[in-house]
Amino acid sequence: MSIDLKKILKNNAINEWRLFWLISIPMSIIIAIATMNADLSTGEGVSHMIGYSVRWAIPFIYLVVAASSVQILFPGPFPMWWLRNRKYIGLCFAVAMAWQGMFIFVISTFLRDYYFKEIYYFRDELEGTVGYIFLAAMVVTSFRFGRKHVNPMQWKLVHKGGIYFLWAYPFSVYWWNLSYADPRPLDYIFYYGGFLAFAIRIAAWGKQRQQALKKKASGGSTPLALKTLGSAMIFFALIASAIGMHWQKPLTAFLTGKPWSAELELWLPFWPFEPFLPLFILGLGTLLITINIHQEKTKIVADRLTD
Ligand code: HEM
Repeated sequence: MSIDLKKILKNNAINEWRLFWLISIPMSIIIAIATMNADLSTGEGVSHMIGYSVRWAIPFIYLVVAASSVQILFPGPFPMWWLRNRKYIGLCFAVAMAWQGMFIFVISTFLRDYYFKEIYYFRDELEGTVGYIFLAAMVVTSFRFGRKHVNPMQWKLVHKGGIYFLWAYPFSVYWWNLSYADPRPLDYIFYYGGFLAFAIRIAAWGKQRQQALKKKASGGSTPLALKTLGSAMIFFALIASAIGMHWQKPLTAFLTGKPWSAELELWLPFWPFEPFLPLFILGLGTLLITINIHQEKTKIVADRLTD
């Protein structure tokens, strides 16, 4: 007897709103039980719940980030189901973040001394607030009543920007955690999970460029030198991503050496972007191995002729 995966994945019980309830109700029950067992009268107790609730949220944002790319790389019924339900997976992320938001409200309103002494740091506050603004805008514009107030470009801006920002926040938190003396196993899982989610996006983009290149096979190809350089960059990026703890200190010192850069570090979210450098190099390497020289040259000539 063969299992028809396509049919199973179309079952109403694991799609759209039912999927959302299936995940978010048990998740909320578990967080509520943990809340009852926590000591919410102390800053430490509430802070613990802030961390606990956000750990529930993170896998969902990673799943949202990877959804469309998995379908491009490995088309099939399961990636299709994943992509189809991306919005509901995103809403599960929002539920866990709402729990975190509630604990942040509790600590910043009722335990202000602890909050300002132990937690408040201007740049983190800015990053967190921007994250919550994006999240609220994404949730509202996920429904018809909110969507009708924005045009397609604004919608794309809010959702693309929000997904990247809300991915970047935990990804960078766990990258930094790995630089500290005694990282937890969870820090590795969430760092590599975030890396993989974004690397999959780069790979899918590379695949699409490769396919476009093949279609124009007679018109151009990637020179061997670029392919070699691109592959070396990808290899280097993968190594760099795994050994961040060894290059973080000297690189941070170098990148924040100038006064203007040290100033930016105080308020600009993620500056100077150390956690993202391996992914940037990965993207650059992918660009090089999929460059169509002929096409680029033709484009330059065409641009010159139209000037
Ligand atoms: C102004 C808003 C925010 C404040 C005040 C805040 C505060 C905190 C605090 C106090 C902790 C430490 C919890 C502990 O003791 O374990 C924490 C951890 C964390 N927060 Fe936030 N946060 C904010 C927004 C966000 C946003 C938008 C995200 C994005 C997803 C986020 C992701 C994280 C992560 C990944 C951790 C580490 C959790 C762990 O221990 O594994 N936070 N936050």
